[in-house]
Amino acid sequence: MCGIVGVVGNSETTDILLNGLEKLEYRGYDSAGIYVNNQKGQDFLIKEVGKISELEKAVTPDVQGLTGIGHTRWATHGPATIDNAHPHFSADHRFYLVHNGVITNYNELKEEYLKDVDFKSQTDTEVAVQLISHFANEGMNGEAAFRKALGLIEGSYAFAMVDKEEADKIFVAKSKSPLLIGLGDGFNVICSDAMAMLDRTHEFVEIHDGEVVILEKNKVSISKIDGTPVERGSYTVNIDASDISKGPYAHYMLKEVDEQPSVMRRISKNYIREDGSINVDPEMLKEINKADRLYIVAAGTSYHAGLVGKNIFETLADVPVDVELGSEFGYHMPKLSQHPFFIFLSQSGETADSRQVLVKINEMNLPSLTMTNVANSTLSRESNYTMELLAGPEIAVASTKSYTSQIAVEAVLAKALGELKGVQAAKDLDLKEQLAIAANGIQTIVDEKDYIKQLSADYLDGQDHAFYIGRGIDYALSLEAALKLKEISYIHAEGFAAGELKHGTIALIEKGTPVFAYINDGVGASHTRGNIQEVEARGAHVLVIANEKYAKPGDQIIIPEIDEMISPIVSVVPAQLFSYYASLARGNDVDKPRNLAKSVTVE
Ligand code: F6R
Repeated sequence: MCGIVGVVGNSETTDILLNGLEKLEYRGYDSAGIYVNNQKGQDFLIKEVGKISELEKAVTPDVQGLTGIGHTRWATHGPATIDNAHPHFSADHRFYLVHNGVITNYNELKEEYLKDVDFKSQTDTEVAVQLISHFANEGMNGEAAFRKALGLIEGSYAFAMVDKEEADKIFVAKSKSPLLIGLGDGFNVICSDAMAMLDRTHEFVEIHDGEVVILEKNKVSISKIDGTPVERGSYTVNIDASDISKGPYAHYMLKEVDEQPSVMRRISKNYIREDGSINVDPEMLKEINKADRLYIVAAGTSYHAGLVGKNIFETLADVPVDVELGSEFGYHMPKLSQHPFFIFLSQSGETADSRQVLVKINEMNLPSLTMTNVANSTLSRESNYTMELLAGPEIAVASTKSYTSQIAVEAVLAKALGELKGVQAAKDLDLKEQLAIAANGIQTIVDEKDYIKQLSADYLDGQDHAFYIGRGIDYALSLEAALKLKEISYIHAEGFAAGELKHGTIALIEKGTPVFAYINDGVGASHTRGNIQEVEARGAHVLVIANEKYAKPGDQIIIPEIDEMISPIVSVVPAQLFSYYASLARGNDVDKPRNLAKSVTVE
């Protein structure tokens, strides 16, 4: 949510900022802005409503400098207007500030320190920059004013600030919102996500909560808010800049759907040895083995992958599992088991709703693992163990390959744990073979795009509502399939336990209502067939996605035989593509659907 970039000491500052913002656009795209200073007294502030392309049009060739900060916004306080867009500035135009996060006590700060200030925006961020200016006007230098303000601000923030009186520096601070330093050759950068700067550097330095960084051309000084110095080395991000390009694809989403077979192969290669044994941290396994219950905590699509994981862990590792939404669990924590172990599922590793749970369980000294696609992300750093999803950068806002990779990595861990415990089901499962079947199964579906596109048009054109139904594993899958459709096509969709429809929701079925029925779950197959009859009798237009084992003549999509537990890895793919084509047909921005952002770093 909101993306920040900054650069100091590079004559291509404007290009670096704009390219970086383009890469971060997935984090928010309501409005954007840059501030550039040439370190010789000339500066520029350009802000636009809408996507980064609008900002790029507004930036004229004379906007050049050596220091700059930029921001792409996902609105939290105040609508998307130019005044509310970042960078925000102090009344005397000395301080310019970009912010990602939410300042929870901004009203109190306004009331106590800024009664006489004429605010230009409705944002919490402007309070921060006016507060810094207020302390500077009392006689503090820029750095001291920045630190003083940080000591008072509550909530979450990643800040980057330029003080015109020291324009060869960027003042940076972070608490609960992501921000990284990138080390260049003769210049330095900051960014919310390493992806923004991979074409300039692969060397990054973490910033921890409660730290201040002063960034100069050849110097990075990290300290605590009280000034205590901090020493920290850098790490290398091994992602190629080309991994984050769309290549020949019109949209990232389609590219990411197509990448799923190779992601399955990569997970298999990295986590499963030639002899079929599982290659995961033995210390971690020992720790998980002490648990009497696993708690999977996640949001959105990752939560849906957790629902699939529950069945996998309970079957293969014979351990009870609760799957929890971070946004609920953190505030209404149920009575925990005696020896809980927490698994956080998060593509980005930054989701604030999940992170606040991690902060709480860390305070309780409870053990945890994060399964994430982003090494060195906040959740990964703050939990005891990490397993990488190995899906490669996922840029489209709608999650696709991170869902399927989460299920595969859950299966890896469940099998390892089950084998350690001697569970027969774990010993019997040939996961290498199953992941190969999954890869081939996905490939077959993505090779049939014309057919899927036609089905999408036949079933979804002109529709405002749709249902996905299934039982057991297919119910969990239906929730994800419906979410995909909602978020990018804006068609109202619900995922439903097939047997529950008749308890009320069947009243919504009318002539032509699209109902997508999943039949991968052997136990529920015949009953779901019955539910299909019920909705067809009321006029529904039914499309069946069935596992080869349970398929009947007339079923529209057949999924190759695969272990039921992990079948959503394959059977979600038609739903991903239905959503993609429905979104395209409606002229929506597939990769950047309205009102959304990829990395949700506010609670
Ligand atoms: C939907 C989607 C979101 C995310 C959710 C959690 O396609 O992408 O529902 O799954 O915001 O994000 P992560 O996995 O980054 O924690």
